[in-house]
Amino acid sequence: MKKLIVANWKMNPMSLASAKLIFNALEKGAKKFSKQSEVVVCSPAVYLFSLAGKQIKLGGQNMFYEDSGAFTGEISPAMLKNSKCQYVIIGHSERRGYFNETDETVNKKIKGAIAHKITPILCVGETASEKKQGKTKEVLKRQVLAALKAVPQKKVKTSGLCVAYEPRWAIGTGDACPTTEAQTIKILLEKIIAQKYSRPLSQKMRFLYGGSVNGDNAQDFIQEAKFQGLLIGGASLKPAEFIRIIKKAV
Ligand code: PGA
Repeated sequence: MKKLIVANWKMNPMSLASAKLIFNALEKGAKKFSKQSEVVVCSPAVYLFSLAGKQIKLGGQNMFYEDSGAFTGEISPAMLKNSKCQYVIIGHSERRGYFNETDETVNKKIKGAIAHKITPILCVGETASEKKQGKTKEVLKRQVLAALKAVPQKKVKTSGLCVAYEPRWAIGTGDACPTTEAQTIKILLEKIIAQKYSRPLSQKMRFLYGGSVNGDNAQDFIQEAKFQGLLIGGASLKPAEFIRIIKKAV
């Protein structure tokens, strides 16, 4: 199975010229690892039409679930699809935390993405206070099951849906989740999927880790914690570091 390495540029960079510069550097660097890795750049939506690569696939960072209509400021799954996006991040903790994303809207978005043949990258993760209260497992189970409510196994399978474990306290802090802890969570997520659907599906599904991934720790999440991919924020804007991550992950 190829490792899925996803760049989440968030609200960066500030111009199309910079976006192209970073994208082209990533495209060049990723070429060497194309047999072992699948690389996706989730750029701000305004740049999507202007970015194109052979190695790198495109993804959205968020979307609304309706196809079109009076929803000022939103982007639909059909629009992402028409912008050549093959992936979309859904339920990122910054969406949940700053923009009132709920388990219910995450569920609708997962269904919307699947309906348009876009692969959803479902993000789940506990806050620092939930972790402190020992609620991590409960929170993750709730988030996964709510996101996949009434989504049949066949659709999960054909869409290639991935689940990304992104502990909120590890995002953008430089304080990545300890490898053993991440490994326990990976096993838990597999179990949740196996119980809801089946073991074969949980074994085929790609689970990603995200939260302060860098060139020094990337290998641990893949080799030791056994994740099949990584979701990278800050480091994905620095081409040399991002390529180092890909190299360590494959
Ligand atoms: P980070 O962000 O790598 O900057 O911690 C990860 C993410 O938010 O997906």
